This record gives sequence, C-alpha cells and structure tokens, in this order.
Amino acid sequence: MKRIGVLTSGGDSPGMNPTIRAVVHEGVNQGLEVFGFKRGYVGLMDNDHIVMDLRTVGGIIKQGGTILLTARCEEFKSEQGIKVALKTIETEGIEGLIVIGGDGSLRGALDLCEAGVPVIGIPGSIDNDIYGTDMSIGVDTALNNIVEVVDKIKDTASSHERTFIIEVMGRNTGYLAIASAISTGAEAVIVPEVEYDLAVICQRLKEGYRRGKTNSLVIVAEGADTAYGVARQLKKLGQIESKITVLGHLQRGGSPTCFDRLLGSRLGKEAIELLMKGESGKMVGTVKKETELTDLRTVTKNKKEIDKSFIELAEKLSK
Ligand code: ADP
Ligand code: F6P
Repeated sequence: MKRIGVLTSGGDSPGMNPTIRAVVHEGVNQGLEVFGFKRGYVGLMDNDHIVMDLRTVGGIIKQGGTILLTARCEEFKSEQGIKVALKTIETEGIEGLIVIGGDGSLRGALDLCEAGVPVIGIPGSIDNDIYGTDMSIGVDTALNNIVEVVDKIKDTASSHERTFIIEVMGRNTGYLAIASAISTGAEAVIVPEVEYDLAVICQRLKEGYRRGKTNSLVIVAEGADTAYGVARQLKKLGQIESKITVLGHLQRGGSPTCFDRLLGSRLGKEAIELLMKGESGKMVGTVKKETELTDLRTVTKNKKEIDKSFIELAEKLSK
C-alpha cells in the first residue's frame, strides 16, 4: 500500500482535526502518501484534494472543526455518485480510504467498500448515536460546551427564580440532552427516545418550587420538541413562565477536550494500522461500557500500569 485518502463528512465534530493529524502521522510513519479529500464525498467526486504531510497538520491538534472541511453530498448517495467517486480513486491510485464522520457518512463508506475500495470508518459526531463505540469523537467537547453554558444560565436563573428551557442538538437522539441534564442537575429532560408528558413535568417543577428550589432547568433535545414549543405548553398547562435558550451550533465548536484529542489520536492511528493489515468495511471505536466491581484487597495490592499502547501512541505521534 502506497497511497491512501482521508476525508471528514457530515456534521463537523471537535476532535476531527486531532484524528486527521494522527492519520497523517501514522501514515507517514508507515511510508504512505496521504491525500486529504476536501468537503467529504464532494471532494472525492470532484477530486479536490491536498497531499498531506506532517507540516500540513502542524498545530491542528487544538483546533475545533476540520481543516479538510466537511459537507453533506446528496449526489454521492446515487449509483452515479459512487461511480464518479470511484473514478477519482482509480485515477489517483488510492489504495485505502479513511472516512471520519457520523452514521450517514459511514453508510457512504460501506457503499465504497462494497464497490471494492478498502475503507475504514472512524466515528465522528457530537450526537453519540453511532453503533459500535461508547463515545464518538466530538461528544465530550460538545457536552463540556453545553455544561459550561448551562451552568451560567443557572446562575441567572436562580438569582431571578426563573424557569429556563434549554434546547440542545440531537436530531434523532437525546444523548447530549440526557448527559448534560445529569451533569447540570436539570429538573427535567425531554428526548425523542422517551415518551414524556408536559403536564407531569409542570407538576414536578411546581413541586420543586414548593420545596424551596430557586430555579428550574428543562433540557430538550431538538429532535423531541423546540424550546419554544415546550415553553408554550408549560404556560398553557401549568401557568409556568419560562425563558428560552437555544444553544445551536456553539455546541459543535471550540477546541477539542483532552478526551476527544486522545480518542481521535488513538482511532486515527489504529485506522491506518487496520488498512495496512488488509482490513476493510470496519469502523474502529472503543467499547468498554460496563461498571466493574473489584475487591478492595485487589485494588490496594496492585498498581495500575500505564497501557503500553498508550506510551507507544505518544511516541509515534510526537514527531
Ligand atoms: P453524518 O455523517 O454526520 O450522519 P449525514 O447523515 O448528513 O451526516 O451524512 C453525510 C453524508 O454521507 C451525506 O451527505 C452523504 O454524502 C453520505 N451518506 C449519508 N447517508 C448515506 C447513504 N445511505 N448511502 C450513501 N451515502 C450516504
Ligand atoms: O449530526 C450532528 C448534528 O450536530 C445534529 O445534532 C444536528 O441536528 C445537525 O448536525 C445540525 O446540522 P447542520 O449543521 O447542518 O445544521
């Protein structure tokens, strides 16, 4: 294998840049030429690429967004779209492709794989709705963005004894809403996956005020309802006045957290190794969901060692 491609597709997510950096570093370590296709599948179809070396990824580890740019490309979903993309792959002699993106982008990656291109996917999306990984790249940064803002809202909410409805991203999923509600101590959370009754939520908020709470926060995932819709209902059903904050795209911006930098670095390096081993049609993620019980005797008798692969990763990506 001499030349591979990498692209970012779908909604951007903070941590895509550290992932690209790791792909390029490990690609160069392995003697590969790395083409970065711009704007996801758009660049693959138009053959719009840059040749990436260590210099092109210098300084990007701390940048949000994606230096390769990203896009949504309806045309790529058609048979003709795939054909055009395959032409680029053939013309440029691309022997493997790494796709960083959400579930839609990974479906596109599968189409390319089924058309004969060796492809490895990396989960990049703030939604955390990709099967096969505990965390997608960008989720942790988005959550921290949300929590930082909600904490601020809580200050003013409690000073004025107000109810706030905060709308967060998640077109089809409520992960960000639930995780941020837990992390900020919100009084209620509304997500597409769970049936909810706004009359019950009204009662809960009122009960809270009766018990002496100074404020209430309701976090709603955009896929379940709008903050305005919830506010209207709270007024109608319970005479509850509320203020609204729609967090919007600020959730997706900003410098990636350490967690996302580490995750992107690990998965980027691993994706190259998998391509080199001849793997294709796979997504590389991390799975270790369960909590575990450990006897205190075992805890105190043993020392936790740093994972060797972690040390190796630091060495490999540090040129
Ligand atoms: P995300 O990857 O963040 O979920 P999208 O669902 O918008 O974002 O998908 C990003 C791009 O991936 C689409 O614009 C399209 O080019 C490609 N894609 C999405 N779904 C499919 C599909 N079913 N088949 C082929 N390509 C797809
Ligand atoms: O899939 C990620 C996501 O941020 C969703 O949570 C959100 O609904 C969507 O992308 C927004 O997309 P756009 O940036 O095109 O408005």
